[in-house]
Amino acid sequence: MNQYEEAARYIGDRIGAPPETGLILGSGLNDLADEIIDPVILPYGEIPHFPRSTAPGHKGRLLLGKLEGKQVIVMQGRFHYYEGYPMETVVFPVRVMRQLGVKRLIVTNAAGGVNTSFVPGDLMVIEDHIKMGGGHPLIGPNDSSFGPRFPDMSRVYTPRLAELARTAAAELGEDVKRGVYAFMTGPSFETPAEIRMLRTLGADAVGMSTVPEVIAAGHCGLEVLGISCISNMAAGILEQPITEDEVIEAGRMVREKFAALLRRILAGLD
Ligand code: HPA
Repeated sequence: MNQYEEAARYIGDRIGAPPETGLILGSGLNDLADEIIDPVILPYGEIPHFPRSTAPGHKGRLLLGKLEGKQVIVMQGRFHYYEGYPMETVVFPVRVMRQLGVKRLIVTNAAGGVNTSFVPGDLMVIEDHIKMGGGHPLIGPNDSSFGPRFPDMSRVYTPRLAELARTAAAELGEDVKRGVYAFMTGPSFETPAEIRMLRTLGADAVGMSTVPEVIAAGHCGLEVLGISCISNMAAGILEQPITEDEVIEAGRMVREKFAALLRRILAGLD
């Protein structure tokens, strides 16, 4: 058995029904998991081969159970490249989810607004991404039991799920943005020049997560929905410096509308 299978077996042995939808919740957006009724809770440290989470605002446990009638597996806290984990470790949970039978992944994050028409508190459905910086989760020998050596990424954000998210938002009377998420490794926030570069390249939001997991999910055939919470305007747009506290605080401010949107999306899944 490989490490993914061992972790999946450990989790599978502790749950009733296999999860169909995986959720990775970003900074300040963790609360939704607490709405699962009678969840099975597994701290990362208990699961064989699972890495641990060190980032602020991240709890570090898996919750499994039902939300809006759907079997879900929720990561409360994710692994970031900037924490020093190899990319392979960052995406480990995604592959474990796939081994557990998950069909689709919903990823969320806090992100800086690069598009100047955005304001903090906006939600953005990710339609595409730009991966900046070195490191790629699929570098190294390809495990063809997950997917091909050169996986296509032209529709990695499943259009049908993005559409479902926009419809769900409209039904709730929420205005959601759509756009391109740029991945920067961090942990420093970007410079104003970097943000001008990203805007020129077509990015609408910038962050330090999500893209590795999405690439791994696409590689192993999962459908993907990505949603960013714009926690701050990216560097150089406003006068004030960007702080970690404002990122976490923005997540807290939108948590209700964000949770309502995710619930509605889950309810609309087939
Ligand atoms: N830049 C990068 N990552 C982020 C930001 C930002 O401005 N805000 C939240 N995550």
